[in-house]
Amino acid sequence: MNNLQARIEEQIDNISKFTATPDQGTTRLTYSKEDKQAREYIKNKMMEYGLQVREDGFGNIFGKLEGTIKDAPSILIGSHFDSVPNGGSFDGPAGVVAGLEVVALFNENNLKPKYPLEVIALIEEEGSRFGGGLMGSRAMTGLLSEEDFKNLIDHNGVSTLEAMKEIGLDSSLSKKRDPETIKAYLELHIEQGPILEAKKIPIGVVETIVGLTQFEITVDGRAGHAGTTPMDHRSDALVTAAQIIAKIPSLAKEEGEGTVATTGKLNVFPNGSNVIPSKTVFTVDIRSGKEKHIQNVIRKLNQLVNFHNKEGIKITVSQQLYMEPKAMNRDIISLLKKSSSTLDIPYCSINSGAGHDAMVLAEVTDVGMLFVPSKGGVSHTPEEWSDSLDIAKAVEILFETVKKLTEVEEYD
Ligand code: GLV
Ligand code: MN
Ligand code: MN
Repeated sequence: MNNLQARIEEQIDNISKFTATPDQGTTRLTYSKEDKQAREYIKNKMMEYGLQVREDGFGNIFGKLEGTIKDAPSILIGSHFDSVPNGGSFDGPAGVVAGLEVVALFNENNLKPKYPLEVIALIEEEGSRFGGGLMGSRAMTGLLSEEDFKNLIDHNGVSTLEAMKEIGLDSSLSKKRDPETIKAYLELHIEQGPILEAKKIPIGVVETIVGLTQFEITVDGRAGHAGTTPMDHRSDALVTAAQIIAKIPSLAKEEGEGTVATTGKLNVFPNGSNVIPSKTVFTVDIRSGKEKHIQNVIRKLNQLVNFHNKEGIKITVSQQLYMEPKAMNRDIISLLKKSSSTLDIPYCSINSGAGHDAMVLAEVTDVGMLFVPSKGGVSHTPEEWSDSLDIAKAVEILFETVKKLTEVEEYD
């Protein structure tokens, strides 16, 4: 194992220790104690690598290697550092560590960029605490307004600002980033699917990222005694939710072409075994490479909800996120492929079924993404695993690409 690979392994392993569920995967919710620990680790690494570190008013982290051109826009490279509940070690941190290791290669080779290089570590990509997802990137690009950010609360009613304060973050720091200060964004991520492993190819160059939307649906019914309320006198919020949820997979299947729909979260109130549920809140996540399929599923979901919105039951639908499918930048795709060829590293083109901060940054700058294989194609579970050797290959490709994008001084 060379030094680069060893450093990658060590850092991913170290970050994975900041979890609220030791031995049961990574649970690192935004603005939690584990967020603070991972944040300190990442900031210290950035400083150790000679970067100027700052946070923005949302808690996103930036480590800057200055360029020789004054006030030039930066090449950003990184990913997110939050996790889903009981997730893996690689989803997010692999990309942050890859960014850091590109800087390490600049340092080792005594290279000075003309355009600045910034490693970024973003908050709440998963939406596991405040819902919606892609929050750090949406907030820094202004797609999520400051007002909407402030109004977000977690399931305990704690607001973003209160949660930030709890771990000592300063929400008065600068927030929306001027797109003029960004020249490009690169992100390495694990594939989270089975394609690269099956093909035995270490690198996927991402062509497009699926479009996705997320809803939170609240069903209000009426609480009552489970023993004394006759079956025809009930407005059971859970039974209604279950009827809707059970039909959701067929809405995606009818569309086909890889369209998917998922309910991953369900809360029942008051959640007592002998109480008729008065309220349920559940999520619906819909994705497709083609926007028309997402639109069709949304339309049918609304019809389904309207059908069940009857006497004694009130259903409210709130859209938390809508991102259309996003193509990556053609020039950056070419650069990534050319760099892979130069280094003799096999690659193939691939589409992403997962959402990524890259799709948000693509609204304001030129974006490129690399994938490395996921063992067994699994992710969002503690079993998630990728080979540090593949990540090291990706870092080398990114290094070549970043040298070109930053117009490095000693580079011919
Ligand atoms: C992020 O992992 C997503 O695809 O939701
Ligand atoms: Mn991710
Ligand atoms: Mn994820």
